[in-house]
Amino acid sequence: MFENLKPQPADKILALMQMYREDPRDQKIDLGVGVYKNAEGITPVMRAVKAAEQRIWQEQETKAYTGLAGDPAYADAMIGLILGTSVPRGNIAAVATPGGTGACRQAFEMIRMANPSARVFVSNPTWPNHLSILNYLGMETVQYCYFNSETRGVDFDGMIADLKTAKAGDVVLLHGCCHNPTGANLNMVQWQEVVKVINELGLVAMIDIAYQGFGDGLEEDAQAARFVASSVKRCLIAASCSKNFGVYRERTGLLMAISDNAEETALNQATLAFLNRQNYSFPPDHGARVVTTILNDNALRADWAAELEEVRLSMLGLRQHLADELQRLSGSDRFGFIAQHRGMFSRLEAAPELVEKLRVEHGIYMVGDSRLNIAGLNATTVPILAKAIVDVGV
Ligand code: LMR
Repeated sequence: MFENLKPQPADKILALMQMYREDPRDQKIDLGVGVYKNAEGITPVMRAVKAAEQRIWQEQETKAYTGLAGDPAYADAMIGLILGTSVPRGNIAAVATPGGTGACRQAFEMIRMANPSARVFVSNPTWPNHLSILNYLGMETVQYCYFNSETRGVDFDGMIADLKTAKAGDVVLLHGCCHNPTGANLNMVQWQEVVKVINELGLVAMIDIAYQGFGDGLEEDAQAARFVASSVKRCLIAASCSKNFGVYRERTGLLMAISDNAEETALNQATLAFLNRQNYSFPPDHGARVVTTILNDNALRADWAAELEEVRLSMLGLRQHLADELQRLSGSDRFGFIAQHRGMFSRLEAAPELVEKLRVEHGIYMVGDSRLNIAGLNATTVPILAKAIVDVGV
């Protein structure tokens, strides 16, 4: 029977990660997968994470199962971090998931269970795995206009026009902050406009928030999610701790289903627990416990937030440095968008041949759509990248 299997298309981001590892050159630069690296090229375990792990190691007396939804203290802590007090706790169903990807997957499954004919509107472009999972689940997707390839900002008129073609019950998947892969984000006035369309057409909002704290700050990056969650009737939020807590391999995520009444919330909670049971039973606990320990301890939380802020500011510094260097070398302002974008990524909008040239001739690895991971740079590699970008003629 297994001879019937067909090879599946490789995930572009992960394939690039492999190619980078196999490249024997010393001078190579990895701007591919979305993993933060410090100036030494290391993805460090955050100080507060180490301290929380030490505490857990000393104090934990059992590794017996938690609950299907994970530890409720984790959901409470994460809801506080993401939504603050913008939505009554009684209207939020939540489950721990294996990473943000697990949260997206469970959200899509929940949508499909509730309405098999729902279409999911995703930004063009979006994180490729959104489309891959939706296709795998046999769900219909519609791409809405998002990125203006001239300005490298949001094509907001195009976006609204496309969203207006959605029908009641369709889902609109939005990136809560730090849009992946473009780095171009909506402002709050634009979020209001999007919510207006969602409410007028009876759409369901879904927010993927994987980079809280990487854009304009922990509170600032949650503003859109809070606004949407408190302004629509129903909303799903898939959150990841991979990046902002640096716990990538611990697979630490949360899915929230928000409604406007307690009865529906109880059904949502039971449905999410059911979906966890079908897919992997109990969600992973270690990363979630680390995150809970940090968020519920004033000193650890303050230290974590301070370290995250250092990470955010270093990425902003790298953005500015790269934009300045490109301006100097190209004699034009056309790369100014790099300093305006937020989060880990910027999309250059370079042709695939040029991306290929950067890899082959300069050992610079970025995703084929010309998404570059700003956090893969440092003060030494910024000028090298800028020169290569100008040399290949981006
Ligand atoms: C990325 O976009 O590079 C990250 O979210 C990592 C991944 O799983 O693709």
